[in-house]
Amino acid sequence: MVTRKTRPGISPVREAENWSPSSWQARPHEQQPVYPDAAELDRALAQLHELPPLVTSWEILSLKNLLAEAAEGRRFLLQGGDCAESFDDCTSPLISNRLKVMLQMSLVLVHGLKLPIVRVGRFAGQYAKPRSADIETRGDISLPSYRGDLVNAPAFTADARRADPQRLIKGHAHSAMTMNFIRALIDGGFADLHHPEYWDLAWVEHSPLQDEYRQMVEGIGNSLRFMETLAGQPIDSFQRVDFYTSHEALLLHYEQALTRQVPRQWGWFNLSTHFPWIGMRTAAQGGAHVEYFRGIRNPIAVKVGPTVTPDQLMRLVDVLDPDNEPGRLTLIHRMGAAKIESTLPPLLAAIKSAGRKPLFCCDPMHGNTETLGNGFKTRRFQNIRDELDRAFDIHAAAGTRLGGVHLELTGENVTECMGGARDLTETDLTRAYKSTVDPRLNYEQSLELAMLIVRKRGGVVAST
Ligand code: PEP
Ligand code: CO
Repeated sequence: MVTRKTRPGISPVREAENWSPSSWQARPHEQQPVYPDAAELDRALAQLHELPPLVTSWEILSLKNLLAEAAEGRRFLLQGGDCAESFDDCTSPLISNRLKVMLQMSLVLVHGLKLPIVRVGRFAGQYAKPRSADIETRGDISLPSYRGDLVNAPAFTADARRADPQRLIKGHAHSAMTMNFIRALIDGGFADLHHPEYWDLAWVEHSPLQDEYRQMVEGIGNSLRFMETLAGQPIDSFQRVDFYTSHEALLLHYEQALTRQVPRQWGWFNLSTHFPWIGMRTAAQGGAHVEYFRGIRNPIAVKVGPTVTPDQLMRLVDVLDPDNEPGRLTLIHRMGAAKIESTLPPLLAAIKSAGRKPLFCCDPMHGNTETLGNGFKTRRFQNIRDELDRAFDIHAAAGTRLGGVHLELTGENVTECMGGARDLTETDLTRAYKSTVDPRLNYEQSLELAMLIVRKRGGVVAST
């Protein structure tokens, strides 16, 4: 065993034993496509292996430190983006609107919670999706399921559904384009971010909390202006924000090809994203995903659903974070509003009594998905809000801390989730339902949720 220090003050961590970037291949692997042409797959992976990485090891380690601070209550994590990106949606307005809503939400949270926010997008690589069945049947035709643009295409034809290794290269390219644009936008600063009066806040009029919300937005504007007046110029740190990326590291061939060693650092980094997570369907201990994740040095997250027992969770935590390393592990619980009261407390008690200190993050989206009579897959804003509300209270009662939120959202004015200030109904869903996978919060619902978090946390709402 090799024991190293990352930096003074941080616990020793070690290289995983008997691990290599390909050791997952000897484990049972769920949710992996079958490539009809193995030689073609090998050629694409060899090419991918030579391409430049998408992120750097120093960005990864700096995010790990920020997440460690979030676990201690000194920051709050905002992680959000599309359920799945698609190659067609790699366009300027979609990317910039998504970034904008995340940054606006984070300003609301910074101001209200009086805590710095760690901003992490679910994008620049969120191209693979887990499916409940390997095969989809329509009439008398059965074809492989659509697994995201990194694997195949959604059209119901044999050609579209064939797992195509060239898509691995395209996925890398589209992630790089997205990342490049985001870095440029962040570097240039979004001017209207500093002027909440330019935000699209017409929805506030429809909320029973409109006075409170107006005060909150005014308060943000006043604080920014006050600080800028003091500094005598626009403040740089408001213009440049840190932004990190994450995705579900589902397709292990792709992740392996981007797992690299770097000069003057020990160990292995997944350089396809800063912060990969293990989805609920692939979090079994002994499975390929857990094997892959235990050996990379990135901060990692795992989705925890309502059927996980305290024993299972503790074994998983032992494998993924054997040294209780600050910032290493985030547990994203996604129980559903109806189940969180019964399922979360025993897990928190187990973690606490073991002296473990992961960052806890609530995903109030994935346990609250339902399919309506008209066939639409939706989520009710009320359930999303309820789960998040309860999560804060349950953590407080358990003596643990909710340090972040994980959301599916878009900057567009879609109608996919029901409710919110404008009270979208079942009939509204037909108007602008664009997701091919899970329903997302739209621009207004996302900002509303950020304001509700501030309200819940007793944040400052009066103007300064
Ligand atoms: C997701 O985040 O899109 C997802 C599939 O979540 P989960 O693994 O929690 O079901
Ligand atoms: Co989803």
